[in-house]
Formats: sequence, structure tokens, C-alpha cells
Amino acid sequence: MIVVKSLEELSNNPFTSPFALVPTMGNLHEGHINLLEIAREKNFLPVVSIFVNPLQFGPNEDLDKYPRTLDNDLEILEKNNCHGVFIPQENEILKNIEPLEAPFADKLCAKSRPGHFNGVISIVNKLFQVTNPQACVFGMKDFQQQLIIRHLIKTKQYEIQFLSAPVVRDTNGLALSSRNNYLTSKERTEASKVFKFLSEIQEEIKLSFKKQKKILLIDLDTIKDNYVQIIENKGFKIDYLEILDSKTLEICQNNSTKILIAIAVFYKQVRLIDNLVLDLSSFS
Ligand code: PAF
Repeated sequence: MIVVKSLEELSNNPFTSPFALVPTMGNLHEGHINLLEIAREKNFLPVVSIFVNPLQFGPNEDLDKYPRTLDNDLEILEKNNCHGVFIPQENEILKNIEPLEAPFADKLCAKSRPGHFNGVISIVNKLFQVTNPQACVFGMKDFQQQLIIRHLIKTKQYEIQFLSAPVVRDTNGLALSSRNNYLTSKERTEASKVFKFLSEIQEEIKLSFKKQKKILLIDLDTIKDNYVQIIENKGFKIDYLEILDSKTLEICQNNSTKILIAIAVFYKQVRLIDNLVLDLSSFS
């Protein structure tokens, strides 16, 4: 495994093409390993970057306590035959970084984490520029993030193939996340109810759609409001629960085919996000 720690080393093009960049903040878990597999399935060598990006944390967020487990991460990557790793030095990667503004600034996570996606898009842009990948892989758990990165590739006209990876879940349904490490195993079981609620909402929309045939005939607001109540009664604090057109992140229209059901909750002060995408085209 090729481990690169400076921009100077990178300038010698140490990675073999074609490779896919898998940007991470470390503390790797099965979800990340799946991203490597997606890269390989598409015939790209996986190159993982590990950088806890300070630009994407708000002043009251968990930057200081964000789990940093570099030795273990490297071991995991080695074991999983990762082609390369890029571990930038903070001062080097942030120097002269172009500050970018992310689209969808008034939607989902951007509403409650102002500036977060500007931080994400700026660092990912820099990572693209310094590593020059032929592809990149992002997980669907951060649904809004992957829309924003697709937008970045388009507007900057990068020749980078975008590969998206499905959400990887624990056997109980809990979406894997580094932040799950803040919870005890009992709490994680409790937190897995979030996925159960999303699945129930999905089922309800699916059943109504089969009867009504038009998404606008379904009272999505009432479904949403009911579930906000149900979920809060189970001890979760809702940040948002949204049912939107997955392409535009706008309110669903009758021509919306893929419906995003997205949630962010606080559980034991840990912010958890998850989503499901319901494809209506198979029912019309
Ligand atoms: O998804 C993440 O872990 C981060 O937002 C990313 C893409 C590595 C940028 O810092």
C-alpha cells in the first residue's frame, strides 16, 4: 500500500491509474470498506484520503472529540488491499484553499449546519486537484453531500467518474457511521429504530401511491407530522424529517420518480442521519 503524506510526494504521481479517490475523515468501518469495493467493481484502484476537515465543523460541533484512529485505519486499509492512502498535513492542504459555496444551502443538513457543505466542497475540490483521480466514491448515507459533489464535478468540468455506494447497515438496520462510536451497544440498538421508522414511512407512501397513482394526491405532510410525533415520543430529538424529490431536494411533484425520505435526529446528543430513496417508477 502506497502511503503519501505530503503534496510534494503527490506531485510525483505515486498512484497507479486509473484510481478512485475515496475521501474520508478516518475512523474507518465496514461502510468505508464497501466504498473500496465499489471502486474495484468499476475497475478503479482505491485510494483513500484521511483528513479530519476542520472547515466542515461548526463552532459547537465535535471537531475536538471526533475519533482519530490513524494506526488502526491504516491496518484496516492494508488488510483490505487498498492501493494507496493520502494523509495530508493540515497546513499544507488548507493553504490557499479556494473557498467554495455549496448548492442546496437551504436544504436538509445545510439548514442546521450552516457552512458545513462549503467546508466539505472546498476540501473535496482541493483533494481532487492535488490527487487527480479518474473516479471518486461517496456513500449515499450523506445524500445531500453526494448531490453537492456531483454538482462540483459538473461545474468544474472535472473528468472524474462519480461512483455512489449504498448505505451500509448494521444487522439491526442502523446506518454505519463513525459517530455510532459515541453510543453504547444498547443505545445503538435503540438508535436502529430510526431505520425502522424510515422503512415504515416508505411503506406508507408506497401503499398510498399504489392506490392514488399520483404523488401529489398523497398527504405527505400529514405522514411526516405523524412520524415526527412518533419518533420524538421514542426519545429522539428531530432535527429534520423530509420527504422530497431526490434530484432537486424540492417538494415532490407528480413527475417526481425517486422520493427521498431523509432524517437527522439527535439521540443521546449524537447527531445521526439516514435516508431511503423510494423509486416510484416500478409502481406506475
Ligand atoms: O463524508 C466525509 O467523511 C467528509 O465529509 C469528506 C467527504 C471526507 C470531506 O471531508
